[in-house]
Amino acid sequence: MFSIKNKTSIGEIILFNCYLCTPKTLFYFSMQLLDGKYLSAQIKNELFLEVEKIKANNGKIPHLVAILVGHDGASETYVASKIKACGEVGFRSTLIREPATISEGKLLQIIQNLNNDPEVDGFIVQFPLPKHISDNIIIQAIAPEKDVDGFHPINVGRVVKGLPAYISATPFGILQMLGRYDIQTAGKHCVVLGRSQIVGTPMAILMGQKQKIGNCTVTMCHSQTENIASFTKSADIIIAAIGIPEFLTADMVKEGAIVIDVGITRVEDLTKKSGYKLKGDVKFDEVSQKASYITPVPGGVGLMTVCALMQNTLTAAKKGIYSDELMLQLARSF
Ligand code: GUN
Repeated sequence: MFSIKNKTSIGEIILFNCYLCTPKTLFYFSMQLLDGKYLSAQIKNELFLEVEKIKANNGKIPHLVAILVGHDGASETYVASKIKACGEVGFRSTLIREPATISEGKLLQIIQNLNNDPEVDGFIVQFPLPKHISDNIIIQAIAPEKDVDGFHPINVGRVVKGLPAYISATPFGILQMLGRYDIQTAGKHCVVLGRSQIVGTPMAILMGQKQKIGNCTVTMCHSQTENIASFTKSADIIIAAIGIPEFLTADMVKEGAIVIDVGITRVEDLTKKSGYKLKGDVKFDEVSQKASYITPVPGGVGLMTVCALMQNTLTAAKKGIYSDELMLQLARSF
């Protein structure tokens, strides 16, 4: 795996050198941007080359299907970026659009058809779904071997057990970001803000596992945690996935911390053509003055998420996880 060892060798990486003077001390630190744009271009290039190889061997081109229910603005944007990425890396993609009024039964029928369609390697149902549809029922209907979002309990359980599985795209993207920047995580205190099924919970589990990127002492903070700052202040790594714009401020962060911002909230901004701007969970301007590494929003984790989904789709096409028939039957019997 490619890793970025020399901070100054890559033009795309921005170094901020700061001197903070106090009467008695002089602190020097440099902040490095964890550049999702740079990394996603690199990963997409790797995927493109893999697809070229598949084509040269007359193999099956990976095929991702996305189901989009309704017209939620953010979901429209996310799905469009996933479909666009498929085109960039040479995958086949199909977008199935359904109205917000679709019944749960009809959606389950579509999922069943995709499960049984040998042309489809992997598929996702974009969340959130309308209130009358149960997320859990939908997730459990997806065949684990085609669940490239890694949301099915079989994939989540296999991740917990440290077995090969589709890792949910955002945590997978973050692990790769840390790995490709050669950030050492072993023995570090990692604070995960948020306990969502998609990000916070799998992220906390993965960062605690005995893996190259992992081996952390993990604290998970959530809406009921008292005095969150008392935890974040001792964190070497903070992964903010709490969904509150600019929640993490400089006074909550220790000098030199590694800060990963998963937040991406649309905040009204009438000076923008779109009428909104995207804000992360981290108050970037001030936290970046203390962090050793930090992700921007946009241009950080979001791009890695899309890449991780593409990687999972390639794995699905190669039958890289559920390869033998017995395992497949077991996975499907749940
Ligand atoms: N909604 C927000 N994030 C995600 C994601 O990673 N996958 C899907 N399917 N829906 C989402």
